[in-house]
Amino acid sequence: MLGHLLHLAGVDSVILETHTRAHVESRIRAGVMEHQAAELLRAIGLGARMDREGLPHHGVVLRVNGASHRIDLTGLTGKSIMVYGQHEVLRDLIAARLAVGLPLLFEAEGLAIDGILADAPRISFRHDNRVQTLDCDIVAGCDGFHGIGRAAMPAGVLNAFECSYPFGWLGILAEAAPANDELVYASHGAGFALASMRGPTLSRLYLQVPPDEDLAQWPDARIWDELRLRLADAAGFALPEGPIRQKGITAMRSYVGEPMRAGRLVLAGDAAHIVPPTGAKGMNLAVADVTVLARALDAWFARGDARLLDAYSDTALRRAWKAERFSWWMTSLLHRFAQHTPFERRIQQAELDYVTSSPVGAMALAENYVGLPVG
Ligand code: DHB
Repeated sequence: MLGHLLHLAGVDSVILETHTRAHVESRIRAGVMEHQAAELLRAIGLGARMDREGLPHHGVVLRVNGASHRIDLTGLTGKSIMVYGQHEVLRDLIAARLAVGLPLLFEAEGLAIDGILADAPRISFRHDNRVQTLDCDIVAGCDGFHGIGRAAMPAGVLNAFECSYPFGWLGILAEAAPANDELVYASHGAGFALASMRGPTLSRLYLQVPPDEDLAQWPDARIWDELRLRLADAAGFALPEGPIRQKGITAMRSYVGEPMRAGRLVLAGDAAHIVPPTGAKGMNLAVADVTVLARALDAWFARGDARLLDAYSDTALRRAWKAERFSWWMTSLLHRFAQHTPFERRIQQAELDYVTSSPVGAMALAENYVGLPVG
């Protein structure tokens, strides 16, 4: 996305991607685009397939111990969300990049980033079995939590803020019709469950599991039993089942590294911050970061105006922390915490009751869910 925004601003870039194109285009990751992320894809001329194949949603369902409550996102905020997979967004961006013939190297292994404090940033990477170097004006570390971008922040610069959660998510992709026409977030005594989708015949479903759970403990039949239990609706509800095509376990954590810039190195997305998946903020936060960053780099390259670039870290962190807060809150609201005291459990129930019965409580969820303003 950053590469495309820079291209539209007339700024050259080289994109180095660790994985193969096939891997990037097929790996199932996030699935929900905030209103503004979908609008951005349209604004840069890449929204056609999303508008054909994506599923606009105007609400989400919170199912609390079998009772369903709909949060009317559009009624409350005037905005909607778009269910369109991250790998689909990537397919559209990759096709656009290749169509204009700009450099995008797959299977490029980043080795080192040097010179960021000397105004002479240089990336070393291995591609086609050759070690090569790239002299840059600026390096954007958009390479995830384990990439070389964050690791290249000079010693002592980065301040880390972290929180881990005493559970993980087991996620499956199943050839089955979606459980509901809108996403269902279930809070249940046996633990959290989420019913999402990737299309009219493709379901994406998640279960809260212990943090270091072994996938071997979860044969398909146990997964469906547990999903049926946690997603049950007192009004009667049959969960469509089908062959499971992918399954995996994701750890849950929150992390923010401050600042998001040192000299000629800027970080964006998971390289700078991680959110737990509840509330679907990860991809959206990365899109928001690069929207702010592209604007800053445009001003810098076009007019030598460094003000937006100097403000980038503060501007991006201000929004990132609100997404961190929301993801932490959604996670705290909906999961079962083994260490909760009876008092804390009652407080959690009261908060769920508040969010599902008060328009103000529902609005606090809806406004964040559809996405806060960028920049
Ligand atoms: C999905 C993931 C989420 O974390 C979420 O809150 C909603 C949907 C998904 O993968 O579809």
